[in-house]
Amino acid sequence: MESAEIRQRFLKFFKKREHKIILSASLVTSDEKGVTNSTLFNTAGMQPLIPYLLGKPHPLGKRLADVQKCLRTVDIDDVGDPTHATFFEMLGNWSLGDYFKKEAINWSYEFLTDKEEGLGLNPKQLYVTVFQGDENAPRDDEAAEIWREIFKKNGIEGERIFYLSADKNWWEAGDNGPCGPDSEMYYDVFNKFGGKGLTREQFIEADEKKDIVEVWNDVFMQYEKKDGKIIGNLPAPSVDTGAGLERLAMVMQGVGSIFATDLFNPIMGVTIPMTCSDRNSRIVADHIRSSIFMIADGVRPSNTDRGYILRRLIRRAIFSTRDKNIHTNEVSALVGIVGEIYKDVYNNIEEQKEEIIEVILKESEQFEKTLHQGLREFEKLSGESISGKEAFVLFSTYGFPFEMTKELAKETGILVDYEGFKEEFKKHQALSRVGAEQKFKGGLADASNEKVVQYHTATHLLHQALHHVLGEHVGQKGSNITTERLRFDFTHSQKMTPEEIKKVEEIVNEKIKAGMSINKIIMSREDAEKTGARHFFGEKYGDQVSIYYIGDSLEGAYSKEFCGGPHVKNTSELQGVFKIIKEEAVAAGIRRIKAVLE
Ligand code: ALA
Repeated sequence: MESAEIRQRFLKFFKKREHKIILSASLVTSDEKGVTNSTLFNTAGMQPLIPYLLGKPHPLGKRLADVQKCLRTVDIDDVGDPTHATFFEMLGNWSLGDYFKKEAINWSYEFLTDKEEGLGLNPKQLYVTVFQGDENAPRDDEAAEIWREIFKKNGIEGERIFYLSADKNWWEAGDNGPCGPDSEMYYDVFNKFGGKGLTREQFIEADEKKDIVEVWNDVFMQYEKKDGKIIGNLPAPSVDTGAGLERLAMVMQGVGSIFATDLFNPIMGVTIPMTCSDRNSRIVADHIRSSIFMIADGVRPSNTDRGYILRRLIRRAIFSTRDKNIHTNEVSALVGIVGEIYKDVYNNIEEQKEEIIEVILKESEQFEKTLHQGLREFEKLSGESISGKEAFVLFSTYGFPFEMTKELAKETGILVDYEGFKEEFKKHQALSRVGAEQKFKGGLADASNEKVVQYHTATHLLHQALHHVLGEHVGQKGSNITTERLRFDFTHSQKMTPEEIKKVEEIVNEKIKAGMSINKIIMSREDAEKTGARHFFGEKYGDQVSIYYIGDSLEGAYSKEFCGGPHVKNTSELQGVFKIIKEEAVAAGIRRIKAVLE
């Protein structure tokens, strides 16, 4: 089934069920609506509808359906794998204080499985998740019961309903706005499990390995958040659903990657010869496709805000080509192909074809001029690390986005000082203050967070090194991380000697240099305890716990701890040299270390 037909069937299905069809809003969020201002682009179908979910009457009524253009840069590092894209289309049906869980779930099931009106997927290959409950909201037994009935009525056997925590089954578009528990649907694309039920562990593993793919999310909007806290119920419970068109196309076309669907195939025909790896051909395809949509919706490359994100996508695409160069004929071919694929849905690409080509070419010319000089400059930088100042010169003089410097540095195994770069950046006030802040917020995948994540991984390394140097009696008593430093409290009765401090620093830096991978595995608490992973004795953990381990295998890991994350993917991403700046007593038998990556 072609993607155009999936779109049509979806809208027709919901139209028949009294939904009014609305057009996709622009990719660009409206600057007028206070609520959606927290992101530069619409990242989900619900975003343009936030005011209505919060109670404002919609002129077309309480039931809506649409296909919304979305852009997400938070997953940019995952682009290149089979299922992630920065631009994607989200199919959604909406109840604005009308129907709730029962109708939403039943219609989702019907659309996925019905041969006449829907997609005709095999219900036996379907698995679903529901919210397991936490301090914000109770376990969603209602949704689970609805699914149980559906499966029973259709004679679908085996365990296929799983309760998961908020990081999977809770939706919100930021710290402010409507939110609630959700129920997600997964499909076993290649019928790997033969339609059988799965244990929770098998399901979680299948999800991690991408043996099953999430295709749809039904969110039951019930609460409103302000500054990250639930402040009350919505005026009326509502439904927000989202199904990624690219992923549905992948399922319907029986291919293992969104890049092999009709939405990407013709684009890949151009990008494969331009690149020298699968990953890079996908990055170029994805980034150029997104850029085309952004330009069509009025964004132009610049050093701030949305323009910076566009600039970064175009430059990253060029950077991923074999010759670090994109030619006029390639750009025209790509814009032509994307325009053709979407001409019946978003005709503003075809209409502005010449302009779009010109914008991309102009940006690429500007970039190429400086890129080659910049690469030579980069090669001249010797030593183990690149200072913030050097990274800033590459940025300001040669137009290297920071993450490009980071990628180059990773290839060559050297460290880059991100904090220093940020300081330089602020000092130069090259941009307006607001611009700069937004740039860091949206453009660099929340860079301050990135530093916190680095310190989090450094804490695990430190913990293990302390065990090594001081002995097994070292137990974690507390940890606190800011963007500037980590703080770690642990049991130990004497002051550490300068030799011990030096030894701990050396070990941590050695592990950073070794470029060890950080992996996560989820298992039952019982099994997790048997692995010997470090955890707080006496602390209450759920039935399922995640372990982060540093090293290639759990058995041979350098460090393993019960932990909710997040962590960097590889220790080489820790930017800077690890240094203990303070070691002191905080209570009898408890020491405190403050350390930095500088
Ligand atoms: N808003 C929900 C999501 O994006 C449907 O997953």
